[in-house]
Amino acid sequence: MPDTPIDPVPQQPVLVRSAFGDDFKWGVATAAYQIEGAHDAAGKGTSIWDVFSARKGKVKKQHNGCTACDFFNRYPDDLLLMQTMGIPNFRFSLSWSRLLPGGTGAVNHAGVSYYDRLIDHCLELGITPWMTLYHWDLPQALEERGGWANRDIVSWFGEYAALCARKFGDRVKHWMVLNEPMVFTGAGYFLGVHAPGRRGFGSFIPAVHHAAMCQAEGGRILRSILPEAEIGTTFSCSHIEPLRQQEKDILAARRVDALLNRLFLEPALGLGYPLEELKFMRRIEKHMKPGDEEALKYNFDFIGIQNYTREVVKYAFWTPFMQANLIPAKKRGVPHTLMNWEVYPEGMYHLLHKYNQYSGIPKLIITENGAAFADEVRHGKVHDPKRIDFLDRYLQQVLRAKQEGVKVHGYFVWSFVDNFEWAEGYDPRFGLVHVDFDTQKRTIKSSGYWYQHFLKS
Ligand code: NOJ
Repeated sequence: MPDTPIDPVPQQPVLVRSAFGDDFKWGVATAAYQIEGAHDAAGKGTSIWDVFSARKGKVKKQHNGCTACDFFNRYPDDLLLMQTMGIPNFRFSLSWSRLLPGGTGAVNHAGVSYYDRLIDHCLELGITPWMTLYHWDLPQALEERGGWANRDIVSWFGEYAALCARKFGDRVKHWMVLNEPMVFTGAGYFLGVHAPGRRGFGSFIPAVHHAAMCQAEGGRILRSILPEAEIGTTFSCSHIEPLRQQEKDILAARRVDALLNRLFLEPALGLGYPLEELKFMRRIEKHMKPGDEEALKYNFDFIGIQNYTREVVKYAFWTPFMQANLIPAKKRGVPHTLMNWEVYPEGMYHLLHKYNQYSGIPKLIITENGAAFADEVRHGKVHDPKRIDFLDRYLQQVLRAKQEGVKVHGYFVWSFVDNFEWAEGYDPRFGLVHVDFDTQKRTIKSSGYWYQHFLKS
């Protein structure tokens, strides 16, 4: 049984939930590979993260997601804990290779049954499931056929999306197509620091186009099967500023903004890729076929905003293509988290206003926000005042934007539990709940109690 929260709140919340309105959606977010474990159990196929993390030197300390939080086996207790904490919405992703071990074709019924049980359990506890179709764990079988760089992925993904909609759409009403396409194409197909570890423009540029095509196609398929569902997709985004108010820095910041904040959103809105600012991306046109510009469009019901830092940009002649350098938070001497990401709550406010200006976006939901610190258990407790301060200050900025008329309708903390932070392994802890990865013991952190009290307020 999970611990019952009885801890006194270390710090009174400044904010009250009711200030955000009754319809505001509060939740926590996770992803399959980061929490499930059971990497080869119950008929699951291999994913690119299984393969990548097994390669030497790819993930810090050679960590992997083979067991992770063992959520696959422990979800009943974890959901009970979530319910005790008063969390009404749970965002999680489906593992494509658990449902379709070969990526396409034969369905793994044990995988379907696992998600059936997970969804039913959520609903029984009064927790609303929010489902992400793709959170970075492509079936390895598809990577071997070219992965995101192969245009066939549009039909592979379509088959997968249709399967998910048909199996789970009777109970799941909130869907997200992709999680942070800029990160999984950039880190996975350009920099090679995430799975599948490919590098260079030859992989990256087609991967971008095909992910953008899948983003829209996924939306259309979900809509055709589930006309009543609420369908969104999510983007990584950062508030960007030039280091100095000089033309070169300003233009460099504009290029970084186009790459990090606009590349996947604008084609969906019918604005095309921001190639004016990103000349080196112009070769993407070679991968476009007649009709693609139309096919890239989709009217999402909401856009998921995922923000963790601010970027300060300096013109850099020697940096290929972008001629821009991002100056790390540590170097700037500003407060930062364990990921070396700047704590800059006003950035969230600026971003909300920025995206609010696009006329094609009906609704914004913050589908991720949170902070990593090196939390430790002391005398059975985890005291994490920095995370409380972080969440409290970010929420104040969300409220400020909302009160100014920004159409922001929800906020999900990343993350419910500490989990596998991709190439960084298990050291950066983002959870409201601490996980001892040796024993799988869960301990609600002070921030978890803080969120509980806030949600009750
Ligand atoms: C964004 C990603 O969606 C998630 O998987 C990751 O763990 C968090 N950011 C923190 O880096």
